[in-house]
Amino acid sequence: MVVMSQTKYLKDIARYGLENEQEKLIESLNELIEFSKKSRRVNLALQLQSILKEGLRETNVHQLNVVGSKKYLLKEEDRLLDELIIEKITSDYTFSNLVCTNEVLNELQLFTKEHSTIELLQKYSLPISNKILFYGPSGCGKTLASYVLAGELERMMFVVNLGAVVSSKLGETSKNLMKIFKRAASEDCIIFFDEFDSLGKLRDYSQDHGEMKRVVNTILQLFDYLPQRTILIAATNQIDMIDKALLRRFEFKISLDLPDEILIKQIIDITLKKTPFKIKNKKDLSKIIELCSGLSYFIIQKTLITAIKRSLFEFGDRITQSFFIDTKIWEDLIIKEK
Ligand SMILES: Nc1ncnc2c1ncn2[C@@H]1O[C@H](COP(=O)(O)OP(=O)(O)OP(=O)(O)O)[C@@H](O)[C@H]1O
Ligand SMILES: [Mg+2]
Repeated sequence: MVVMSQTKYLKDIARYGLENEQEKLIESLNELIEFSKKSRRVNLALQLQSILKEGLRETNVHQLNVVGSKKYLLKEEDRLLDELIIEKITSDYTFSNLVCTNEVLNELQLFTKEHSTIELLQKYSLPISNKILFYGPSGCGKTLASYVLAGELERMMFVVNLGAVVSSKLGETSKNLMKIFKRAASEDCIIFFDEFDSLGKLRDYSQDHGEMKRVVNTILQLFDYLPQRTILIAATNQIDMIDKALLRRFEFKISLDLPDEILIKQIIDITLKKTPFKIKNKKDLSKIIELCSGLSYFIIQKTLITAIKRSLFEFGDRITQSFFIDTKIWEDLIIKEK
């Protein structure tokens, strides 16, 4: 049923595209977007919407070109944004992909709740929390948690390379940041500043210490005037590098820390769940869990996957239904990481 109707829209779109029937093409595209939303293909809908918006912007550029000279300017700005926004993504991640404590999960759910009930909150003139900061050691899920939020909120996300914004054209950082915020708001996207501490680099790059102050002030203002629907996510593993006034602006500050024994077991479980591989006995598992203490989720997962591959090389094709991992190989890999 889904496939049937989708095929119909695709045929229409192809035909109108080839016949240069712009209006009908847009109409069919909009129908397909609505249809995709209804049939729970949200990411496809978001991506089509974004293509449509970009297409329309191009059209406007052409129209401007007829009138006068602004075409070049607009194109230039787009090129610049392409440089600053490394990726514009949709995400399929959900809460189930993130291993974390119940407190963290609870906080994340409260954050998304504010946006699914935004009308209710606005009805009572309550402010919406729209700025969230993830901090903690490397490999503990800051970037992943941001993708989870994008997936749960069913929004597109601008992943901004703040390092590039800061270093590429020093002196233009403030201006570039303003452009990013404006674009995100107009496209109803989430802004994600990964490695938010790059701002601190301004101290090293710039002889002019005023530059950093100016940029921090710009961000403070952008934060304060952020439209309620625009969500801002930032991640850092160096929270001390971030200006105190900036830190205060985040309504949610979430620490993603190294896993304890229970969480170590969970990251092992979710990694194994999608595979036919198993750990032979409880004793081996307990030993592994103990050894993993002090390591990040990322390292635990990485050593596990490497151990699976090397066990496979050992056993070759002689696998039956379930396949046991050689935990000795895994232990050695873990010890090397310490
Ligand atoms: N809490 C977690 N739950 C599930 N998987 C995780 C978790 N943390 C890390 N991982 C795994 O490790 C990978 C890398 O994690 P991620 O990029 O989110 O770390 P990070 O905290 O952003 O690290 P960095 O500070 O180095 O950027 C993830 O893609 C995922 O496969
Ligand atoms: Mg990261």
